[in-house]
Amino acid sequence: MAALLLRHTARQCLRSQLRPAFCYRNALPMGTTSKQEMDRYWEKNTRLNRPVSPHMTIYKWSLPMFMSITHRGTGIALSAGVSIFSLAALALPGDYASHLELVRSLHLGPALIYSAKFALAFPIMYHTWNGIRHLSWDLGKGFKNPEVYRSGYIVLVLTLLSAAGIASM
Ligand code: HEM
Repeated sequence: MAALLLRHTARQCLRSQLRPAFCYRNALPMGTTSKQEMDRYWEKNTRLNRPVSPHMTIYKWSLPMFMSITHRGTGIALSAGVSIFSLAALALPGDYASHLELVRSLHLGPALIYSAKFALAFPIMYHTWNGIRHLSWDLGKGFKNPEVYRSGYIVLVLTLLSAAGIASM
């Protein structure tokens, strides 16, 4: 009871001290909030019809950019491919030899078989060679612009050669 009374009295005292006029006199004017700033920024960009980053009209496609997104694409494709292949191997009846025999029995022709093998080998080889390029970057090597282009061309040549070699096996 005493505590309640004490709290009530203290609150009344504070209220009488901190009248609105007192508060206004000492309040600092608030700046704009970050949301208002962002709204203003986007509104201005829209009004001036500015392209917004990342945007195709700002960044011209370059070899390193193309190779970077392809590394991600092949990484995702390989993950999906390995998962589907493994699940299919578990779920489908028969074994590897019988599946191979089934493909042979379709008589697809050497050009089609070669193309299919090349299409499978290409993303694996690309991701492997470009992965090695990434690992050298992780070691802090090859970051200068000419080096990035040179290593990019090397990866492309190695990918084509190794994928063609594997497809011909
Ligand atoms: C079946 C085999 C593989 C699968 C499924 C796979 C999958 C992936 C995936 C999903 C990513 C992430 C891509 C991204 O979001 O940017 C990735 C990144 C990476 N992979 Fe692979 N990968 C495989 C083989 C390899 C091999 C053999 C190498 C190296 C010789 C390699 C090196 C790398 C590197 C260095 C990165 C990181 C790139 C970065 O820094 O952004 N990967 N991989």
